[in-house]
Amino acid sequence: KKRVVSGVQPTGSVHLGNYLGAIKNWISLQDSYETLFFIVDLHAITLPYEAPDLAKSTRSTAALYLACGVDTSKASVFVQSHVRAHVELMWLLSSATPLGWLNRMIQFKEKSRKAGDENVGVALLTYPVLMASDILLYQSDLVPVGEDQKQHLELTRELAERINYLYGGRKWKKLGGRKGSIFKVPEALIPPTGARVMSLTDGLSKMSKSAPSDLSRINLLDPKDVIANKIKRCKTDSFPGLEFDNPERPECSNLLSIYQLVTGKTKEEVALECQNMSWGSFKLILTDALVDHLHPIQVQYQEITSDPGYLDSVLSEGAKKASEIADTTLNNVYQAMGFLQRQ
Ligand code: AQP
Repeated sequence: KKRVVSGVQPTGSVHLGNYLGAIKNWISLQDSYETLFFIVDLHAITLPYEAPDLAKSTRSTAALYLACGVDTSKASVFVQSHVRAHVELMWLLSSATPLGWLNRMIQFKEKSRKAGDENVGVALLTYPVLMASDILLYQSDLVPVGEDQKQHLELTRELAERINYLYGGRKWKKLGGRKGSIFKVPEALIPPTGARVMSLTDGLSKMSKSAPSDLSRINLLDPKDVIANKIKRCKTDSFPGLEFDNPERPECSNLLSIYQLVTGKTKEEVALECQNMSWGSFKLILTDALVDHLHPIQVQYQEITSDPGYLDSVLSEGAKKASEIADTTLNNVYQAMGFLQRQ
């Protein structure tokens, strides 16, 4: 079976962008692929954060994975920091990562600009190397992510090829390595709709955990009245009717896409249903659709979090399985890079 890995940072509440761009798509992959889904807590410390909240957010993100439909009889769910190999491989990879590659990363440029120099640690710059390690450790074939991660995925691919070139092939064979390359070069899996869910208050910025206003996003755990209020107050326009893909109406396109995804309708069906609708009527049906879609997730979440022992056992089992795969890759890389093997 081909292997799929993906993760979300426990940096705040998981929102509709994380869900429609990533988590929702994981569910459909569980049957046909070997899947590993992790909570990337090591990534969550790349910007200033509150230490007392980290463990709580990590548990809550894990519980949400399960509530959204990640099935632990099929997928391994674990916490990134519980598998030590992630950090270890990152160090090895960083030795072969040109600084120029990291300086080019758009997310680094944006986040460091927002955070200000005083708050930017080296880890924000080297974040993509850790992400490459997360993916390459598992010899992953596919990585389902939102559009914003495309550039990091590209860097992962380039890094895999670079390591294969520098240390693989004949050199590795001489060191006793197995046949084939050190790393599989993974592909990004970006959904056709939902890859870039935009803010409710600005159709040109992506929905994000770190945006200062909570009104800009729908969190998966928002209660009904909060969802209704956010949709009521979201940005619209004064054009007649509703339509997709009009560049002058980014908010309209975004809200219709959200509606399409949470109802499971096709784009054509939604376009037809909403073409003559007023914003007032559409906001009501969108609110209902969101509440209906998120309600079962919220019920599941309550059930899962009412038994902390269950979540602990899922995470511990997941880390055990993940470590087995990760350690094999890590040992191969040490060997290929010429380190003396521990006896
Ligand atoms: N707005 C979005 N639309 C579609 N997909 C999105 N993702 C994030 N935002 C959107 C996808 O969600 C997955 C997990 O993201 P992350 O937790 O690693 O962090 P992020 O990309 O930095 O997302 P946030 O929530 O917007 O956080 P901040 O505010 O820190 O930037 C990824 O697959 C991502 O593509």
